Amino acid sequence: MSEITLKEVRRDPRVKTYIEKANEQMNAIGYTEHGFRHAGIVAGVARGIPRQLGLSARESELAAIAGYLHDIGNVINRANHCETAALLAESILISMGMEPSEVAIVMGAIGNHEEDNGFPINAVTAAVIIADKSDVHFSRVQNPNPMMFDIHDRVNHAVQKSYLRVEPEEKIISLELTVETTSASMMEYFEIFLLRMVMCRRAADVLGCKFKLVINGVEL
Ligand SMILES: [Fe+2]
Ligand SMILES: [Fe+2]
Repeated sequence: MSEITLKEVRRDPRVKTYIEKANEQMNAIGYTEHGFRHAGIVAGVARGIPRQLGLSARESELAAIAGYLHDIGNVINRANHCETAALLAESILISMGMEPSEVAIVMGAIGNHEEDNGFPINAVTAAVIIADKSDVHFSRVQNPNPMMFDIHDRVNHAVQKSYLRVEPEEKIISLELTVETTSASMMEYFEIFLLRMVMCRRAADVLGCKFKLVINGVEL
């Protein structure tokens, strides 16, 4: 058994195909971008959080792997995609030779990433949750017609810049957003974000940090 890295996971032909197809299917049902861009960003941010907080390099790598695979279940159906993603990841990672004890951590992180039934059960899961919830950006909108935007499109479309800042000394994780308030009403923004932010706060708690949301320079 060898230590599987994100680099190897990214190269796996199943991973490539399933993420590509998952995004096509999200596009077909009018969802925001859930492809290589989202997978890559969540992996990168999820890797950075444990690393900046001084956790082990392996936890950081497992967070990156879970972050990359967290939405792969969308290739089957959006409904229950956390559970299906965890099972797909299990099959892929076991066949790549990952240690079952590590696969278990990745599965738990993936299976707990959504706000309806997810819980930050450990540091790796907490990192994936925060990384996933903080990927909000205008480039995720796939709907070409602004007249047909749904609430997720409008909210993503309004975010010009998003940055997750980790301050290890102060024990603060902040999501800093630059939001164009004309294209999404703040009410819609909060409608979507309230639950996500509650989840991020719980996740930050597991990491021993406080979570802050900063919009246009104002801390909420
Ligand atoms: Fe998801
Ligand atoms: Fe996601």
